[in-house]
Amino acid sequence: MASTTSEAAGAPPEEQSSVPISRWLWLTGAVILVAGVLFGYDQGVIAGALIGIEKEFNVSTQLVEVITSWVTLGALVGALIAGTVADRIGRRPAIMGAAVLFVGGALVEAFAPNPTVLVVGRLIVGFGVGVASVAAPLYASEMAPTRVRGRFVSGYQFGITFGIFLAYLVDELLSSGDAWRAMLGVSAVPALLLVLLILPSSDTPRWYLSKGRTDDAERAVERVRPDDPAAGMAEIEASIAEDVPQATWAEVFAKRWRTPLLLGIGLAVFQQITGINAIIYYANKIFAAAGFSTVADQTAATTWAIGAVNVVATLIAVAFVDRLGRRPLLLAGLVGMGLSLTAVGFAFRSLSDIPAEPVTQSAGVTNSGVVALVGLVIYIASFAFSLGPVVWTLINEIFPRDIRGRGVAVATAFNWGSAWLVSQFFLSLTDSIGQASTFWLFAALCLVAFVWIWRYVPETRGRSLEEIEAMWRQRSGVE
Ligand code: BGC
Repeated sequence: MASTTSEAAGAPPEEQSSVPISRWLWLTGAVILVAGVLFGYDQGVIAGALIGIEKEFNVSTQLVEVITSWVTLGALVGALIAGTVADRIGRRPAIMGAAVLFVGGALVEAFAPNPTVLVVGRLIVGFGVGVASVAAPLYASEMAPTRVRGRFVSGYQFGITFGIFLAYLVDELLSSGDAWRAMLGVSAVPALLLVLLILPSSDTPRWYLSKGRTDDAERAVERVRPDDPAAGMAEIEASIAEDVPQATWAEVFAKRWRTPLLLGIGLAVFQQITGINAIIYYANKIFAAAGFSTVADQTAATTWAIGAVNVVATLIAVAFVDRLGRRPLLLAGLVGMGLSLTAVGFAFRSLSDIPAEPVTQSAGVTNSGVVALVGLVIYIASFAFSLGPVVWTLINEIFPRDIRGRGVAVATAFNWGSAWLVSQFFLSLTDSIGQASTFWLFAALCLVAFVWIWRYVPETRGRSLEEIEAMWRQRSGVE
């Protein structure tokens, strides 16, 4: 999830009144939702697929980590270049390109004759994820009239969690046959759907105007604002007139914007180093170690305890983020995450190690296993109503306008980078210090994040982007 446009994420629900939504706007909504689902599917699917991959290729712990985590490396590169690509060739071709890469990458994964080819497939898919994670929210936020933009942007977040859930469901349905190739290959289906949805759509009026293609811009506005195309056009022209030239990289790192930059990077990093993707990617292995004896039991626990809870709690956050504010949600979420991880750590102290080999038989779920399960449910729910969506909301609203594009890109890159770090080293970490200490380490990082957010992150609820910018100017003494 990446550069969502900010006013949207922070727009109070009451402002998002009932603008008539045209057929084309529904189509745009479907594009953003399917793009989110794709992203989530590829995040989630590996949890179930690893079991079959390990059986077939007999890979080491390190290679399991590479196969799991290199999607995030590809995404890191994809997200970094996506903005430039979407500006040059357009948002629509960028999304289409990402979807085609997806299909290609999914097929490479599904037919991989050896682990190396599989890793190449993961990188290609990741690259597509990264491009889509920037281009799709951009497309949606530029297509939607201001008042429904918030719904479109949260639609993307919802799509991601729904995609993770869907991946877990597919893993569960296919778990009996070790069908890891089918699990990975299935991601070609939503990618193809995305191509079909984007084919009849046009590019965004804003992009056409930026290229001087006024006729195309007018046609695009007529499609999404059939009620009042002239007002739609005026709205876009006015917002382009307010555009500020993009700052140079030197300015992004200049002293006067140090605070928002450090805040953006800090939020992005804390969202990952508190363990979310270790749980999302390795859930089945964790449940296996918690005594869930069959593959079917492990995938069922992953689907419902992690996947479904994640979707439901995200919906709660979307409903409350503008009413309760960002800080209370973040702080309350971190308390829930920290305490539940501590309990999971204690549960694992009396359990066996997370197995390197897939577990098909074990002693069954013990009391400690139940504590681990409940702990993980609380952890995922706490993340999903706080750090999950709220970090992205904040990242998209704290940067001053002229460095926003690049600031968001830097924060996003740090997010993918730390996601890679955690998923790359989680299993090795559990091998060397044990699972209990690994979960306690994540819990300690929740505490550090709590103190840091308490101390440094300002409340932005109800503040306009201009007020937030003025606050940084005042603090750095620059007017
Ligand atoms: C994070 C992802 C994570 C997802 C889980 C997002 O906010 O950026 O890394 O996998 O939440 O729902």
